[in-house]
Amino acid sequence: MSVENPHKIDVSKLDEIIQSYDCKKSNLIAILQKVQEVYRYLPEDAMIYIGTKIEGLSPATVFGVATFYAQFSLEPKGKYEIKVCDGTACHVRGSMPVLNAIRAKLNMPEGQLTSENGLFSLETVSCLGACGLAPVVVINDKVYPQMTSDAITIVLDTLMKEEA
Ligand code: FES
Repeated sequence: MSVENPHKIDVSKLDEIIQSYDCKKSNLIAILQKVQEVYRYLPEDAMIYIGTKIEGLSPATVFGVATFYAQFSLEPKGKYEIKVCDGTACHVRGSMPVLNAIRAKLNMPEGQLTSENGLFSLETVSCLGACGLAPVVVINDKVYPQMTSDAITIVLDTLMKEEA
């Protein structure tokens, strides 16, 4: 893969980020966090570029660090990151029908992480520590308590209208 002609990434933006952290390998985590903020995930080409640009690093090292930390996503994320809690309390109180309603609404079969239009990504997570509000859905930083299939469909409809 050519570093000179990476697709989907803006090399000047990456250079800006790398330079803002003094091109230091000790700042790799912070650099990756910033890149993820820009792209909402870590594009492969960006990791290769960083690995070749910063002294003492290699693309393999950058991949290794990125895959080690759960905070980094190597898959594209949607503008809206939907997390459906499937901890015990939420599961017992109906998180699966809520998840299925989301999949149906966004036309995302099981296994698909991001909607076709790139707006929504979907994952299940373990207990979010808000069991009293079960079943819980979090969209970006907003908590939606006591969700039902109907309620989450209305929430998604509202977000989709805002984006239309
Ligand atoms: S099980 Fe869902 S918040 Fe605890």
